[in-house]
Amino acid sequence: MTDTLLETAPLAIDDAAADRIFRHARSTSLWTTDEVTDARLEAAWDLAKLGPTAMNTLPLRLLVVRSPEAKQRLSAHMAEGNKPKVEAAPVSLVLAADPAFHEHLDELFPVYPGIREQLAPATDVREQMARKNALLQAGYLIVALRAVGLATGPMDGMDADGIDGEFFADSGWKSLLVVNVGIADGEGSSHPRGKRLGFEQVAEIL
Ligand SMILES: Cc1cc2nc3c(=O)[nH]c(=O)nc-3n(C[C@H](O)[C@H](O)[C@H](O)COP(=O)(O)O)c2cc1C
Repeated sequence: MTDTLLETAPLAIDDAAADRIFRHARSTSLWTTDEVTDARLEAAWDLAKLGPTAMNTLPLRLLVVRSPEAKQRLSAHMAEGNKPKVEAAPVSLVLAADPAFHEHLDELFPVYPGIREQLAPATDVREQMARKNALLQAGYLIVALRAVGLATGPMDGMDADGIDGEFFADSGWKSLLVVNVGIADGEGSSHPRGKRLGFEQVAEIL
């Protein structure tokens, strides 16, 4: 894509980083056979966890699906077109929101003593906060995975209730998104990059 403004905009990161994280990164479904180690996933998490969430709640949870058996269990709950994508990816992450995030707030948000007890009975509020902030963290994680050299293929074509019953019956986590992860084979996609809306189309300036 050529975009003169984008090419000349002053960046606070170097061009190679901007290329890797945004300009050249595609939603990927074509993978090399390279493994995705837990250490590499942890390196991505160590960046993503620093992205801001309301009251530092960090409600995002990850299920790392790598073994063929676990892939089959996950694939059974994916939309038809997404099944082969889960099966082909080196790793699939189920990104989920934990409505019991408040249990960690004594440690994560000590500047607000008593917030854990205050949120405990507020189930609806916690579910909404968990979903909103975990989705934000999902975005940070996609960027962080790219920053450690991995490609991602996010998908929400799935039976979320089915996934929750299959994997999260005990934890109460609520699945939001499945993200395939690996090393992209070439551009990682068989179709060209879609257009994007320009700043003037999305921004209202008062
Ligand atoms: C929240 C979300 C849900 C998506 N769901 C699916 C999906 O179910 N199946 C699929 O093949 N791609 C899915 N995608 C991929 C998008 O179509 C893709 O990210 C978008 O077209 C941009 O592609 P690009 O990153 O290659 O430019 C999803 C992406 C996001 C962020």
